[in-house]
Amino acid sequence: MQALPNLILIGPMGAGKSTIGRLLAAELSRDFFDSDHEIQARCGADIPWIFDVEGEAGFRDRETQMIDELTRREGVVIATGGGAVLREENRRMLRERGTVIYLYTTVEQQLRRTAKDRNRPLLQRPDREAVLREMFGVRDPLYRATADVTVRTDRRGPRAVVNDIVRRVTR
Ligand code: S3P
Repeated sequence: MQALPNLILIGPMGAGKSTIGRLLAAELSRDFFDSDHEIQARCGADIPWIFDVEGEAGFRDRETQMIDELTRREGVVIATGGGAVLREENRRMLRERGTVIYLYTTVEQQLRRTAKDRNRPLLQRPDREAVLREMFGVRDPLYRATADVTVRTDRRGPRAVVNDIVRRVTR
C-alpha cells in the first residue's frame, strides 16, 4: 500500500503555519510537528538564545538537520520556519518528501500578526517593515518554486484555509 504523503507547510513569519498545521493535522487525523518547536525542545533553549549564541548560521544548521529528520516520517503534517526555503538542500528535501503547501500572506498582514512578537530575532528592530519587504522579495519566488499548492491566508480565518487545503490535497 502506498504511504500517505507528508503535508509540509512553508511560508513567511505570521502566515499561520503553526495554527493551520495543528488544525489540518487534527482534521486529517495525522500527527503534527512544528520545526521551530522541535529545534527548541532538542536544544533546550528558545530561538532568540540560539541566534544569540550560535548566530543565524548555527540556527540554520539546526533547521536543516530538523527538516531532514521530520521529513523522513510518513503521513505527518509539518510546519517549517519562514527561512526553511533559503537553502537549496532544504528545498530539495521538502519537494522530494511531501506535498508542499505555500501559505501566502501580505507584508501588511505579517506586520499585524507579528507586532508584539519577541520570539523572532530577525524582527526585533525598528525597521521591521523594510526587513519583511526585503524578505518577501527574496523568499516569495523560493516558496513558489518549492510548493505544489499555494493558499492565501490573509483574507480568511484558519478554518477556511484548512478546508481549502483539504479540498486541494485530497482530490
Ligand atoms: C525565521 C522564521 C521563524 C524562525 C526563525 C527564523 C525566518 O519561524 O524559524 O525566527 O527566517 O523567517 P516562523 O516562520 O514560524 O516565525
